[in-house]
Amino acid sequence: MVYNLIKTAKQGKFIESEEAEAAALPKQYTPTGKRFWHSVIERKPMMLLVASLFVVALGGIFELIPTFLVKSNIPTISSVKPYTPLELQGRDIYVREGCYTCHSQMIRPFRYEVMRYGEYSKAGESVYDHPHQWGSKRTGPDLARIGGKYPDSWHFNHMLDPTSMAPGSVMPRYPWLFERELDLGTTKSKIHAMRKLGVPYAEGYEAKANDDLTAQAEKIAQGLKADKITISHKKEIIALIAYLQRLGKDIKVENK
Ligand code: HEC
Repeated sequence: MVYNLIKTAKQGKFIESEEAEAAALPKQYTPTGKRFWHSVIERKPMMLLVASLFVVALGGIFELIPTFLVKSNIPTISSVKPYTPLELQGRDIYVREGCYTCHSQMIRPFRYEVMRYGEYSKAGESVYDHPHQWGSKRTGPDLARIGGKYPDSWHFNHMLDPTSMAPGSVMPRYPWLFERELDLGTTKSKIHAMRKLGVPYAEGYEAKANDDLTAQAEKIAQGLKADKITISHKKEIIALIAYLQRLGKDIKVENK
């Protein structure tokens, strides 16, 4: 190769300044020869850009539009029900506190995931979740089937101080949830908003939502009392516990 390079280099000769040879194009373009239908987009970069963008988008459009239009594409599972008002409030606390930055709620259909967390998540389980809490970031374990895994008192102690339940845990403490009272004033608008997004709350349910909320909260506070924990049913932690205990319970699957 070296020999070849040297021989080739020796054959050439040095040209100091080469004369420009290409003639300038005439300012006015006069098409010569036969005109085809595609002459319309020739020499018009913007037009060509828009046209090609449209052509490229066609594939996407053909995939997307039917998916949005056909209702059966959203797999509903009849046993999946909307959250109760207390759970809905708890969910918003979950979102507010950024629990999703460490916890996913999506068990993937792999054997090791199913063995660790339980039945893998179905799309139809999240149809009433706005916004969904799937995610892939797991500093902590997946919570898609946390409901019923522990008693309420476990969650109570864990939220107050995670290391009390899981020694060495890096999960932060959430002591303010035990002091702050749940804002019942927002229940109505939250139900309303969810209905706008397609969650089938009965017409006029807003009016009695807070009664249901209080009843469920009192029940949880009562249950905690049995475990020697005294807390007002009005605290935010009660709503969060209600939410956590609901997760993944809509579809009943035998845990082997
Ligand atoms: C900095 C990351 C981080 C944040 C933020 C976080 N967690 Fe955790 N979480 C963890 C880790 C790590 C574990 C595993 C150790 C443990 O149980 O404490 C865990 C465990 C849990 C468990 C027990 C799961 C199981 O199957 O044993 C629950 C329930 C839980 N977290 C709920 C929450 C909730 C609710 C929030 C928001 C209020 C939250 N976490 C915020 C990291 C986090």
